Amino acid sequence: YNPYLEYKDGELYMEGVSLKELAQEYGTPLYVYSASYIRDRIREYRKAFPEALVCYAVKANFNPHIIQIAKEEGAGADIVSGGELHACLLAGMDPKKIVYAGVGKTIQELEYALREDILMFNVESLMELDVLNELAGRLGRKARVAIRVNPDVDPKTHPYISTGMKKSKFGVDIKTAKEVYEYARSLKNIEVVGIHCHIGSQILDISPYIEAVQKVVELYEYLENKGFNIQYLDVGGGLGIKYKPEQAAPHPSDLAQAIGPILKGVRARLVLEPGRSIVGNAGLLITQVQFLKDKGHKHFIIVDAGMNDLVRPAMYEAYHHIVPVVYKDTGYLKADVVGPICETGDFLALDREIQRVERGDYLAVLSAGAYGFAMSSQYNARPRACEVLVEKGQVRVIRERESYEDLFEKARV
Ligand code: LLP
Repeated sequence: YNPYLEYKDGELYMEGVSLKELAQEYGTPLYVYSASYIRDRIREYRKAFPEALVCYAVKANFNPHIIQIAKEEGAGADIVSGGELHACLLAGMDPKKIVYAGVGKTIQELEYALREDILMFNVESLMELDVLNELAGRLGRKARVAIRVNPDVDPKTHPYISTGMKKSKFGVDIKTAKEVYEYARSLKNIEVVGIHCHIGSQILDISPYIEAVQKVVELYEYLENKGFNIQYLDVGGGLGIKYKPEQAAPHPSDLAQAIGPILKGVRARLVLEPGRSIVGNAGLLITQVQFLKDKGHKHFIIVDAGMNDLVRPAMYEAYHHIVPVVYKDTGYLKADVVGPICETGDFLALDREIQRVERGDYLAVLSAGAYGFAMSSQYNARPRACEVLVEKGQVRVIRERESYEDLFEKARV
């Protein structure tokens, strides 16, 4: 999963830091990320695509320290909200490396991004074009725009994270894109600079990706012939990662090899928006066993991390591998690993063969660096977890655990 994660004398370490000691010091549930792993992944992308702008998809993990690492490694950012823009600015990210997608950008968000003069708005509808044009005019700016096209390919992933199919709310149908481009060109305060597409997430088989890029390149050629100056070809993110032990994830160089030939005649700069493949396996969630419950036919391991901390299993029936922080030779048991939330859907694993544990033991839920903390909530009035970043033996708290006071800070009582 992560070469910086290893057992030493039966205890789990990340970049030389004992996870048991981290759990004891900072409490659980605790998110732990490896900075070196994040750096390596970005370097891999940059090596595979030396000319491209790699925009880290902030939605996967918007902690400003994580964004800062991306920035240090030369990456830009892909955002979907004003909040994510704010996180990028806190991290010192250059707005000229920020691209902004999203079907429902508000006036406030568009204005914020216009004032910061971001690289490109990935526009998803005609109406958004009109609003952006008007707003840019009022602010005396020109908005650089790519149209997000929907290439209608099936990324063969979970339906909730498939975004490039005809029936999805995202982008404009690639068949009508030509008219949308002509319309965009007619608007005074819009500068058409790119094409954007993103077909989905957790893609393990890259053939739909190839199909999408082919369709986008056809559109590119058409537009170039019509006199457009397309400077950016943004093909989105979506490369999958290893969640299950038997899975193998594609490497950025596999993608480069597959789409390189298709992009040969393209002069526009390639933009990529990887999120999960950068941070997913950089992080894990440490949780402590609270109680064990044996219902005869079924065993439950009740832990202190719930669906509010990591919603992916509840929301997508996602698989996250779970390993003990301290290995013991106690044999295995089939159990459900469940959280403390008052919902049947609150589980981290179902019918999982797992090392026999005792009350107080720590478990590490792997592959939790992407869409883990980022999707966490305060449901059941549970303060959000602490996040720590480790790098070469150094530990840094990058977000403190929330307190009960934090929970009610904005409440008026
Ligand atoms: N670009 C756009 C326009 C996107 O919508 C996304 C993800 C990305 C880039 C980054 O995709 P990645 O490289 O991370 O696959 N919460 C879900 C994943 C939702 C993905 C949404 N869009 C999950 O936990 O699996």
